[in-house]
Amino acid sequence: MAQYDGFAMQYREILNKGGAGGPEPAFRYMEEQLGWLGDLAGKSICDIGCGQGQLSIRLAGMGANVTGVDLSAEQLAYAAAEDASGQIAWVRDDAMSLSSIQDESFDFAVSSVMLMDVPDHRAVFSAAWRILKPGGYLIWVIMHPCFQSPFSHPIGDGGRKVSEYREQFWKSQGRGTIRSTLGAYHRPLSVYINDFMQAGFRLLRVDELDRLEPTVDVLPGHFAAVGRKMDDAR
Ligand SMILES: C[S@@+](CC[C@H](N)C(=O)[O-])C[C@H]1O[C@@H](n2cnc3c(N)ncnc32)[C@H](O)[C@@H]1O
Repeated sequence: MAQYDGFAMQYREILNKGGAGGPEPAFRYMEEQLGWLGDLAGKSICDIGCGQGQLSIRLAGMGANVTGVDLSAEQLAYAAAEDASGQIAWVRDDAMSLSSIQDESFDFAVSSVMLMDVPDHRAVFSAAWRILKPGGYLIWVIMHPCFQSPFSHPIGDGGRKVSEYREQFWKSQGRGTIRSTLGAYHRPLSVYINDFMQAGFRLLRVDELDRLEPTVDVLPGHFAAVGRKMDDAR
């Protein structure tokens, strides 16, 4: 089963609910960073692991030519249904290869809360590097591995206790939920950052994103990075 086929409706509910667990902080961060990088009109953006396409649609609204890539046909069906403009290309492909996408064909690539879903995040960084034009940018956002993981427990005073931090695959308890079925990959920040640079990106900045609303804690919910494809960074 392709990732998220069978879970598109459940993911839709997470999106509709908004709030702490949703990707809205990631979307806002992408819009802000891309806005700072210049006028998006006519620029090409690949949204890697685009899910149901909300970010792609928002970036297209900023004037960009957007391609949304996802492995799940069901997620893409939701995306296409929501794309009133019909201007976005929705492509079913594996983010770890992006084999249907030509080398050096995008100005920007973005990846919103999907790297924890793939067994090989390095392959995603490499594929993104390949499809970007020289000097192109990749912006990625993940759930914060310190403060938003099953190994990080609220302790009731606004803080958390982190019980484990090593690289590992996990599944939540229960049945029939996205994380109890598909699981996710927990990786320390150093793993992501070093592998990002190793793939040939010059690290421009990292950020820790505030939650949109206070929950049991006031710690950052997402981690974000911006890098630029540089030949001499390899
Ligand atoms: C948590 S959702 C995030 C979706 C969207 N980026 C957002 O922020 O709402 C993760 C998405 O990554 C996709 N995905 C997981 N593994 C993938 C892979 N190997 N190639 C492409 N997409 C993948 C899933 O199908 C899912 O739509």
